[in-house]
Amino acid sequence: MRLFYLSILLIPLRLRSILTEENRKAEIDDGGWFTEEKDKLAFPGPCDIEVRDAAGLTQEEFLQRYAFDAPVVIRGATDNKIFQNECRKDAMMKKYATKTIRLSSANTHSYRKADVTLDYYVTQVMKPQSLDTWGNETFYWFGDNNITEWQALFDIYRPPPYFLPGMTGAYSFGLAGAGTGVPFHFHGPGFGEVVFGRKRWFMYPPHKTPHFHPNQTTLHWLVKDYQELHPLDKPLECTINQGEIIYFPDRWWHGTLNIDTSVFISTFLG
Ligand SMILES: *[C@@H]1O[C@H](CO)[C@@H](O)[C@H](O)[C@H]1NC(C)=O
Ligand SMILES: *[C@@H]1O[C@H](CO)[C@@H](O)[C@H](O)[C@H]1NC(C)=O
Ligand SMILES: *[C@@H]1O[C@H](CO)[C@@H](O)[C@H](O)[C@H]1NC(C)=O
Repeated sequence: MRLFYLSILLIPLRLRSILTEENRKAEIDDGGWFTEEKDKLAFPGPCDIEVRDAAGLTQEEFLQRYAFDAPVVIRGATDNKIFQNECRKDAMMKKYATKTIRLSSANTHSYRKADVTLDYYVTQVMKPQSLDTWGNETFYWFGDNNITEWQALFDIYRPPPYFLPGMTGAYSFGLAGAGTGVPFHFHGPGFGEVVFGRKRWFMYPPHKTPHFHPNQTTLHWLVKDYQELHPLDKPLECTINQGEIIYFPDRWWHGTLNIDTSVFISTFLG
């Protein structure tokens, strides 16, 4: 009798282990922000940034080890299911389609800005990154959020539960097509979280200025420059999945690349 029950339990386990990569992908909840396979030009790479479970990372250790010294990927830090639900395509289009959002050009200094409605952005502007488009000619939505209009959404976001002494957080929310990203730049410390999709992060410490053209997309840099880097000049990197957080210390260089159509939020500390 016991054996009988045991074998019933084991069958689904076996089946699960032979699921193909395709099936695994189909199980990922994209929130309606679909990405066609042909539009995925970039993929996750290695992860050589420390990955920690929030359950085993105290604020004290965060301060000692990472806050001023090193990036870290943190898993299971916050349960943002409610916020994630509000970021589904149908929910966002229902509430915010007519709101004006400010787009930035995807080059290092994000010089150029454009104001469009969310609906116009999603239907006309937001596209997978193509390899032969300049970053300064690619517009995408990351930050510059009108706090008044987005307050209700930001209010339900649970920020990372770690802090730096005397600093508070400011949110930067965005949505972008597969293969888009911001080329290398730096600023103050903060956290990045992926709500839907995946984001690959490349980092260098403040003293190690990376070689890159400020108007070229991260995708272009990945395909052309990254491959030719001497092993000692490779960046630190990791791809974060939805619900995961990455911490970048003050003045660390970072470049980002959205693997899929992605919704993301950063908390800038200052
Ligand atoms: C974008 O940058 C490239 C390279 O710096 C430049 O040749 C091009 O004119 C720029 N495009 C615009 C619209 O400024
Ligand atoms: C990058 O593009 C901007 C305009 O979009 C231009 O003003 C700037 O000179 C370009 N930078 C380089 C290094 O080509
Ligand atoms: C933000 O949105 C409010 C409400 O729609 C509007 O009155 C205000 O002008 C906007 N602020 C900016 C800086 O666009």
